[in-house]
Amino acid sequence: IQVFPLLNLEYPVPTLQVSNDDLAKIVDTSDEWISVRTGIRNRRVITGKDSLTALAAEAAKNALQMAEVDPDDLDLVLLCTSTPDDLFGSAPQIQKALGCKRNPLAYDITAACSGFVLGLISAACYIRGGGFNNVLVIGADALSRHVDWTDRGTCILFGDAAGAVVVQVMELSITAAYNWLHCWFRAWKACGCRVQPVEERIGIDLSFNKLGRGPLHALFGSCEQYQPKTEPWLPCDGRRIEEEQGFIVMSCLQVCNSEEDGLFGFDLHSDGDGQRRSSYSCIQMNGKEVFRFAVRCVPQSIESALKRAGLTGSSIDWLLLHQANQRIIDAVATRLEVPLERVISNLANYGNTSAASIPLALDEAVRSGKVQSGHTIAAAGFGAGLTWGSAIVRW
Ligand code: ACO
Repeated sequence: IQVFPLLNLEYPVPTLQVSNDDLAKIVDTSDEWISVRTGIRNRRVITGKDSLTALAAEAAKNALQMAEVDPDDLDLVLLCTSTPDDLFGSAPQIQKALGCKRNPLAYDITAACSGFVLGLISAACYIRGGGFNNVLVIGADALSRHVDWTDRGTCILFGDAAGAVVVQVMELSITAAYNWLHCWFRAWKACGCRVQPVEERIGIDLSFNKLGRGPLHALFGSCEQYQPKTEPWLPCDGRRIEEEQGFIVMSCLQVCNSEEDGLFGFDLHSDGDGQRRSSYSCIQMNGKEVFRFAVRCVPQSIESALKRAGLTGSSIDWLLLHQANQRIIDAVATRLEVPLERVISNLANYGNTSAASIPLALDEAVRSGKVQSGHTIAAAGFGAGLTWGSAIVRW
């Protein structure tokens, strides 16, 4: 049995578009400042009548349709979000919206901008554990709801969106070979990729598996706080939990000591009498420190994952990072020696969409024909928590 991710996606984004010039009308900023410092020009923002659940459910429906997977065949629904409509989790509502009669397990994963990659890794773990054949992973966030629209340091960054993938188990026995190829064929069709001759597909994929290649290599970690001025930096490499040719290699860890002031805040309101109320205040962020964290941690994490996959930055086809800031993306690419033409980026149009940013960018890259079968993608999510996760995926 080979665990293999088949990524089939479609993304809905809200219709309300907010440009840099629009923001310059409400805070002291300019199109030039925002685009030079971040690379962002536009973002989509949900309006009062939109719900995160509806956005995520739309992405999920599209992904299932593209993958030709019936909602009743789903074994698990993972909603990666930090902005659920329901504090106790919105994934069951998506399960309901999809009309899953079999009631698959459905729950939320909260890991900010790392959520999608961590969701993908979780899906692979479930599949590998057995009993889970079709896992829906949705990345969806509506951070605009929690943005202080008077804070020019944060309100310029974020946009709202959702994206979804279906991760399927591929059984590589003689009897299952036909189904496997058939699934690949469907996935290619669904993703709008160039459909190659059957022989060519067999050639690529069977040699790939005969060599025992094609695992999803992943590295991830978190630290409650990251204080580069006070704490020594711990490299993003970790204890290897398990490694097996042709399967998933994973390693995790890394817990840094906590300090007082964090890089992010998302505090509960206090109404003056000291009582904490059940609503969140706005996002606070130490942008400079998060920037430093990203340009140090992300390349290390990807480098370690690549090493385990026997690859280097120059041998991957695509670098797909969480779309936070073009300067972060460029810095990581330079450090990994990935030429900029092999870097996927769409944040100019959507801003930082948190857990949705990677499936959103991947979808565009697949539809445009950039990402093709056999390509190797190094993907990494990073953000509040702090959390980060890198995965090497053979498409
Ligand atoms: N327009 C104009 N001026 C601004 C703006 C703005 N929108 N925002 C800040 N400034 C000013 C500041 O006030 C400061 O002025 P001063 O020098 O007079 O004090 C100056 O510009 C420089 O501000 P910095 O904060 O130092 O600007 P920086 O170059 O660090 O860019 C930014 C800020 C874009 C936020 C950057 O730090 C960044 O992208 N950080 C990473 C954020 C990130 O990636 N988050 C990812 C995770 S998100 C999540 O997980 C939810």
